[in-house]
Amino acid sequence: MEWTRESRYKKYSEWDAETLLKLQAQATASKYQMSYHIRPQSGLLNDPNGFSYFNDEYHVFYQSYPFGAVHGLKSWVHLTSPDLVHWKNLGLAINADTKYDSHGAYSGSARVIDDKLFLMYTGNHRSKEWVRYPYQIGAIMDKDNNITKLDKPMIEPVDHITEHFRDPQLLKHRDEYFVILGAQDAETKTGKISLFRSKDLKNWQDLGYLDFTEEEMGYMVECPNLVFVDDQPVLIFCPQGLDKKVADYENIYPNMYIVGSDIRLDKAKFNTNQKALLNLDDGFDVYATQAFNAPNGKAYAISWIGLPDISYPTDSENWANCLSQVKELSIVDGELYQRPVPAMASLREEGTLVRSEEVFDGQQIVHSAASKHYELKLDLAAGQNGKLFLAANKDLSQGIEINFSTADDAFLTVDRSKAGIPFAEDYGTTRTIALPANKQLSLDIFVDGSVCEIFVNNGRHTLTLRFFAPDGNNKIAFTSDKKLQYTGTYWNMKNI
Ligand code: FRU
Repeated sequence: MEWTRESRYKKYSEWDAETLLKLQAQATASKYQMSYHIRPQSGLLNDPNGFSYFNDEYHVFYQSYPFGAVHGLKSWVHLTSPDLVHWKNLGLAINADTKYDSHGAYSGSARVIDDKLFLMYTGNHRSKEWVRYPYQIGAIMDKDNNITKLDKPMIEPVDHITEHFRDPQLLKHRDEYFVILGAQDAETKTGKISLFRSKDLKNWQDLGYLDFTEEEMGYMVECPNLVFVDDQPVLIFCPQGLDKKVADYENIYPNMYIVGSDIRLDKAKFNTNQKALLNLDDGFDVYATQAFNAPNGKAYAISWIGLPDISYPTDSENWANCLSQVKELSIVDGELYQRPVPAMASLREEGTLVRSEEVFDGQQIVHSAASKHYELKLDLAAGQNGKLFLAANKDLSQGIEINFSTADDAFLTVDRSKAGIPFAEDYGTTRTIALPANKQLSLDIFVDGSVCEIFVNNGRHTLTLRFFAPDGNNKIAFTSDKKLQYTGTYWNMKNI
């Protein structure tokens, strides 16, 4: 179907139920579908929103356009979970149905206030002349998951910020509320993190911009997110148009982070000793990550696996994207680690041990016919070079190729150029990370339909990618000049 402005912004109530059912069935039937990641029931999913713990369960929402694989009229879809792995989809939670969010209920956050979950998001409103007005809207969710929007926006558009003013994260710091938001400065047209303060959630004081870097942050910063990891403030955000001299990245837009030494929101100051911005994920497809501090003391993160302005092969099946698995954050020796949450192990079916075999002819087969939904943990000894193929065909001419060295010049490269239907090739088909020299390498690989998440060295790095392999490409194998030493376990994974 030809998407026009009119069709993208058609009210949900004007679509017929049958169309939606057909789209849902089409998404469910896709051979690329995920079974243990949060995926759209139909249409397009983007940012995670309102990630929180409330009323004895975890909550996450996602940006949804249910009528096709396009960025149309956005709403929030709600899911809950007891363990951050098994999610129940409760359906549409925030619809774009008021004057202030008439053209989309955009991204935002959630925070428990008294016995309610307070949601704050950006209402995207456009005038008849198609001029955009971003409103920062509050909504209150009770323990029965009923959501009531506040009558008036909490924060109106401000003069020093352009129409690009969105994605509020509501924070509490020293008994005051603060909101950080993605913004574009009106004068310089550069990306900023805007900051507001309030004592009562009603009257908001504009504190200008958060001072977190000397560098220019491109033309826009989306989805700023502040979380405390092992007592250190970590700022996660998505700068658009960032100069590659400022920070190295290959995706169309990066999702970056800075670990802070301390933060004073009242002084609009985030101090850091970190030299450069770092990519949160070293793979191809992570964006708009949202993290929060749970009452159990842990910091959890979840991301959109997908990027703005990139077409994905399932667009032709009218659905697109998914969320990442939830990752637990920690800081070890000053470095940010991201690990699967413990409940991920509950998805494992009986494991099969894998190890190097006696016979060696250049190829070592880990699994000759893997499931589309599995976890594979591997430990590779130091001092080796080789390639690991996932989702490969028989002769390994197709597949995800993971080239590695655990010798002097240790590295890991993920190459998806031969993994299946090509996409986003303008942004490169390989991603490389450096590894510590002459050390054992541990990989925890999660494959789910068309998603692959690789945890390297116990979460020191993560590399996430989408891939769209032909049917039957289900071999996992190593190639190398010398026989490789490795051990590991393979599990088929259950549906959630
Ligand atoms: C990021 C983003 C946000 C916005 C939302 C709209 O992917 O562009 O800035 O709120 O998506 O869906």
